[in-house]
Amino acid sequence: MSGRTVYIETFGCQMNELDSELVSGQLLALGYTFTTSPVKADVVLYNTCSVREHAEQKVWSRLGELRLRKQLQPALVVGVLGCMAERDGVDLIRRMPVVDVLCGPGELDKLPGLLDNAVRTRESLLAEDSPFEPASERSASQVALQGSTSRRSGTLAAAADSLELLDLSRSVSPIDSDERGRRSAYVRITRGCNKFCTYCVVPFTRGAEVHRPPQHIIDECKRLADAGVIEVTLLGQTVNHYRFEHGASVVVDGITQPQKGRSYTGGHRRDPFAGETTTTFADLLARIHEEVPGIQRLRFVTSYPRDFGDDVLEVMRDHPRICRYLHVPAQSGSDRILKVMNRGYTTGEYLEFLDRARSYLHQPEIGRPLMISGDFIAGFPGETDEDFELTMRLLERARYKNAFIFKYSPRPGTIAFDKLPDDVPEEVKRSRNGRLLDAQNAISANISAAQVGLTLNVFVEGLSVRERKKRARERACGTGLPTPASGGVSLTLRGKSLGVEVEPAETQPESPGTIQLCGRTDGDLIVLFDLPEADQAADWVGRIAPILITSAGALSLFGEPAPAHAASAR
Ligand code: 5AD
Ligand code: SF4
Repeated sequence: MSGRTVYIETFGCQMNELDSELVSGQLLALGYTFTTSPVKADVVLYNTCSVREHAEQKVWSRLGELRLRKQLQPALVVGVLGCMAERDGVDLIRRMPVVDVLCGPGELDKLPGLLDNAVRTRESLLAEDSPFEPASERSASQVALQGSTSRRSGTLAAAADSLELLDLSRSVSPIDSDERGRRSAYVRITRGCNKFCTYCVVPFTRGAEVHRPPQHIIDECKRLADAGVIEVTLLGQTVNHYRFEHGASVVVDGITQPQKGRSYTGGHRRDPFAGETTTTFADLLARIHEEVPGIQRLRFVTSYPRDFGDDVLEVMRDHPRICRYLHVPAQSGSDRILKVMNRGYTTGEYLEFLDRARSYLHQPEIGRPLMISGDFIAGFPGETDEDFELTMRLLERARYKNAFIFKYSPRPGTIAFDKLPDDVPEEVKRSRNGRLLDAQNAISANISAAQVGLTLNVFVEGLSVRERKKRARERACGTGLPTPASGGVSLTLRGKSLGVEVEPAETQPESPGTIQLCGRTDGDLIVLFDLPEADQAADWVGRIAPILITSAGALSLFGEPAPAHAASAR
């Protein structure tokens, strides 16, 4: 199967970015090559997101464009991976026969086989091509979906979890100086979700919560650290509910299998299942910290506000390489709405958690403030003006460093979609969304301003967005090529983009001859700084360096290399 060229585009969350990286690694090992240009590809893959309708619309429009292309290139193989594949199922192929492969997020280990079959099937469709049934209009129909009825409901011993092999297959090669942006990596610890928030598709698309064996996670972190990775972000939909019970583990073909999550019943201040044979989330963090010292920054997302134990906070406080950053979505500030959302906590409990987390971890006096970010949904069914005002109050009280704010998007298959009319008018959703954003921007600006004058350690990720755009313009002028469209740069293949999105209004005027780099603090604040000479950039990217913060906007901080460090880097 070697020799085929793949283009992969990723939509949605960090879990999808990691899935794309793992799938790309498998395909590379099988001899596929990759391109960042979709027109050069023999295989086009979209790793999709279904959390909001908008994300799906982007994929539908990409597929519409491919229809025309397939008439010119009928051997082209098109695959839809991820949540949209799982949610829409074979209806997606009926609506868009340009799609040859459908692979849900729980079946990605099967992708190489599906692609292989799709290539062969396309060849035979081409052999049968006729004006009545053009091959370009026929799908190779290779499908691997978990199906919502087959959530992993059996006993632990029920099945070997072959998806674990995908994580175990991660190809880790030493990072050379050209690839310093790859010194940060995601590591999955938990898949799926058991929470069934009434608005959310994830429990249906990603299936039941499954925890990976701790030794697999630690070994993966070690391999990444040996290759040069210095920052690891642990991923899970409700990452703090990680727990692995060793006594109940099952080994199939020499591989310890991941475990179904047991439900928490609420109200715990310690992991209720802590004990000799259990690795709790707190234990896992402490073990990674101790056993993989090469990881200089350890983060985790996304935390669930319920049952976030003091044991985890203690481990975070006592282990200096664990970042002082929490992403804890609140979704609403109205207890009534939280109940209908099935979130399982009240605003009082949520705020109690933030206060508790800050009492353990907010230490600006030693340069380690705790930064918190959150998510909100504006215009959930039945949300009244009073409910919304409560959300505004919660957002103001929580003092997030940033918040992700979304207009409610009804998702077929969810409980809210079936039972609750989408009754908040679009313009009300938009205005509530705008008010939350404005309030958050003011808070973010305030938190940013408080950092001015401090020297913060920054993990330097790469060129700033402004710098990348400037370079693209210069290249385009030199070659006569059109400039790339402005806006987001999506992950395409193995690893992350080198930059961070920053609003143009926030960028400072550029001085000639300098190069602007960007990075993140321990608390996940974005920092931009200039170096006087472009050829110095390679010495900085992929390192943690002290940066003196000189000014601040709402979305990012601006700084300069702290004097002592600037001297030593020269
Ligand atoms: N509509 C709007 N936002 C949603 N989210 C999840 N489902 C929906 C939906 N149906 C948001 C939540 C979640 C984030 C990942 O996406 O805020 O935390
Ligand atoms: Fe969706 Fe709720 Fe699970 Fe988060 S916790 S993935 S919002 S169901």
